[in-house]
Amino acid sequence: MHLNALIYSALCLPCVTGLTLRTSNTNNSSDVVNVRWLEGKPALNLGTTFGLPWPKGKHSGNHTAFTASTDGGEEVALQSWVTSYWADGSIKWTGHAIPGSESVPNGYKVTASASKSIPRRTKPQSNTVGKSKDEIIVDTGKIKASFPKSGNVLVSSLSTASGKIVGKNGKLVLQSQSGVADTQDTSVNKAINYFLFESKINTTTVDEASSVRTLVTVRGSHRIGGKKSTGSHDPWIPFTVRFYLYTNSDTIKIVHTLLFDGAADRDFITGIGLRFDIPLAGEKLYDRHVRIAGVDGGFLNEAVQGITGLRRDPGKAVRTAQFEGKKTPDVGTWATTVSSRLQWIPTWNDYTLTQLSPDGFTLKKRTKAGQSWVKIPGGTRAGGLAYLGGATTGGLAVGLRDFWKRYPTSIDVSNAATDSGQITLWLYSPAGEPMDLRPFHDGLGQDTYAKQLDALEITYEDYEDKYNTPHGIGRTNEIFVRPFDSTPSSDELAALTEFINAPPVLSPPPEYIKQTEAIGTYWDVPNNATATPAVQTIETHLDFLNKYYQGQVGQRKWYGFWDHGDFMHTYDVDRHVWRYDVGGYAWDNSELSPDLFFWNYFLRTGRADVYRFAEAHVRHTSETDVYHLGRYKGFGTRHGVQHWSDSAKQIRVSTPIYRQIFYYVSGGDERIGELLHDLMDADKTFLTVDPRRKVRQDNSTYVPDPKAIDLDLGIDFSGLAAIWLIEWERRGPRWEEAKMAS
Ligand SMILES: *[C@@H]1O[C@H](CO)[C@@H](O)[C@H](O)[C@H]1NC(C)=O
Ligand SMILES: *[C@@H]1O[C@H](CO)[C@@H](O)[C@H](O)[C@H]1NC(C)=O
Ligand SMILES: *[C@@H]1O[C@H](CO)[C@@H](O)[C@H](O)[C@H]1NC(C)=O
Ligand SMILES: *[C@@H]1O[C@H](CO)[C@@H](O)[C@H](O)[C@H]1NC(C)=O
Ligand SMILES: *[C@@H]1O[C@H](CO)[C@@H](O)[C@H](O)[C@H]1NC(C)=O
Ligand SMILES: *[C@@H]1O[C@H](CO)[C@@H](O)[C@H](O)[C@H]1NC(C)=O
Repeated sequence: MHLNALIYSALCLPCVTGLTLRTSNTNNSSDVVNVRWLEGKPALNLGTTFGLPWPKGKHSGNHTAFTASTDGGEEVALQSWVTSYWADGSIKWTGHAIPGSESVPNGYKVTASASKSIPRRTKPQSNTVGKSKDEIIVDTGKIKASFPKSGNVLVSSLSTASGKIVGKNGKLVLQSQSGVADTQDTSVNKAINYFLFESKINTTTVDEASSVRTLVTVRGSHRIGGKKSTGSHDPWIPFTVRFYLYTNSDTIKIVHTLLFDGAADRDFITGIGLRFDIPLAGEKLYDRHVRIAGVDGGFLNEAVQGITGLRRDPGKAVRTAQFEGKKTPDVGTWATTVSSRLQWIPTWNDYTLTQLSPDGFTLKKRTKAGQSWVKIPGGTRAGGLAYLGGATTGGLAVGLRDFWKRYPTSIDVSNAATDSGQITLWLYSPAGEPMDLRPFHDGLGQDTYAKQLDALEITYEDYEDKYNTPHGIGRTNEIFVRPFDSTPSSDELAALTEFINAPPVLSPPPEYIKQTEAIGTYWDVPNNATATPAVQTIETHLDFLNKYYQGQVGQRKWYGFWDHGDFMHTYDVDRHVWRYDVGGYAWDNSELSPDLFFWNYFLRTGRADVYRFAEAHVRHTSETDVYHLGRYKGFGTRHGVQHWSDSAKQIRVSTPIYRQIFYYVSGGDERIGELLHDLMDADKTFLTVDPRRKVRQDNSTYVPDPKAIDLDLGIDFSGLAAIWLIEWERRGPRWEEAKMAS
């Protein structure tokens, strides 16, 4: 879609107005809502957040209380907040958090009831949050974490319920270089500078309501750290890292967002990571354990100093204990043929798992820097989790969701034979090629609008010099960390790996969402009993399209740090590939509103596969296809070979309409909420970027002016109206201004 976008968008307007405010809703829906696990009962409940809709006029904004019980009737602590209001001030959507629990129920019942005010009930189980001048300390009952308010360390200490400190100095690391060697010319290599950065905190804040869930948000940027850089570089790559801690849960969910604010031709990122120190002093080398997730719940299962497979046997009890991650019997009880010769058994200081493609990972280890790496058999798609710790000191597991889907990724376990080991989780692996965000062609001489429009006729690309920039795009990753009192079993780690790759989701039935009308009245749930043959045909087609796109992602390997979550625009029937290299096709960037298609299909069906697909999609389209800072802030990019390559920068790509269903069903995902709010100034970008500059009839007289800008009703105004409507219904920080605007 390009120049005739107006017609399409105008037609599509009813389908994008999920924000439709109905004048009345006399239907009654239940005060008790059942919520179920999307994929059936999970193995672990480490605390979760979900969203619920309510019918108009039913629950007063300030006079409703929410309680929850398991489906078996047992009361559970619930933290509730309102994520949007109907026009009459009644509650439209709420967010809810439940704590972790040892046993996992099949589902929960949430009850809304009248109350004088939104109650602040003190629950027996509750996070305790300590705040001082220098740090915020959160105790979930199972773990304790400290978050400094300044410096380079985001998490200064992580300790278990028994008080063992198993993680320290959690900080972000980043590395880059000023150029890449495009040819064999070694003189180019000499001119390249190499930089190592660390996080530098600007602010650390904690949310006010922390009865079940505490959210600590750390913002800052990356600064040169240490002395190893070969040149100077300004602070860059702003980050927002959100730590979610649930009562009675030992696992912290981390939502890590970064923005690229560099220059594509000078800033080549070679690594993006999160690093923790793990205290190991006092633990015997043979009682220190390394676990790295492979495929399907399998783990590399080793000790820093292995005592199995040796020429002499220390005894079965010793071997078994080491393999199972338990403290070995006192060394005095070992066969002396082994205990007298421990000094000859190498210790493995460093391990690395590297996933440079979606199809394969490699593993290696070494005794120390300066000695050769030893290859360990690799595999296909790694689970993305590693543990380092000791049988008595305890340890830390760190994992990345969608690890292989976001290649190139890696995990380093380092210095395991010293007093302070480390795990570095690489969201972008230093073992891969430098991240190259430069334009994919040199402009092909398209130096006038006339030439650009003519080129559009053939490659469908809307090119313009300097518009093909990644400056301002973003990416969000989900990371999980879990302290352990002692080395866990591989089964326990396998369950955790499964958890981090599909964090359990709670949702109400589609019929209930439909009945509340909180996401519009234009849709309905499928009903076989009443479906005519024509309706059944349409349903079959919808199901086909959903499965087809899911299948194409797998078949075409649409994965990678920036790419995961997107899919392609158009197929080349001659080559039998999608048009990944033809300017105006390739990555879809929300063309024809697939975001709405997939999210609405989830609402209608409640299907888990559709939810997971739409979730990856919204995380991609909201971050990578949109500018969050710089000249194009608030606009997104039209489809193209690179997510940012096309010169059509438009609000139809950044529109909150694409994010709102996920925002509400997730209980108000804080990153998405921030993106919605940040769009409040998107109208100002029309003063610097005129989306119709190349085709304007009045181009000799039109000058964008703060008092009057020329907008397209369908593509531009509908996006702005949606921004204001959602800020208003959420009662965002600028809702009164938004109300005036809309
Ligand atoms: C009210 O809710 C019932 C039960 O879900 C439904 O069958 C009925 O169609 C609804 N009525 C209106 C007017 O929406
Ligand atoms: C609907 O709710 C209203 C207000 O709570 C109540 O007065 C009325 O009796 C209810 N109607 C039905 C059919 O449940
Ligand atoms: C809730 O109460 C506050 C303070 O009294 C008031 O400003 C606000 O408008 C009320 N909100 C609703 C939705 O009634
Ligand atoms: C740091 O935080 C303050 C307070 O929120 C803000 O005004 C300032 O712009 C931030 N600085 C940077 C570099 O982000
Ligand atoms: C509806 O019918 C289709 C085709 O017969 C079947 O696959 C599907 O499971 C049915 N759905 C429900 C909700 O019964
Ligand atoms: C203005 O538009 C006319 C006709 O649409 C076109 O010929 C001319 O090149 C345009 N001028 C500029 C500066 O874009």
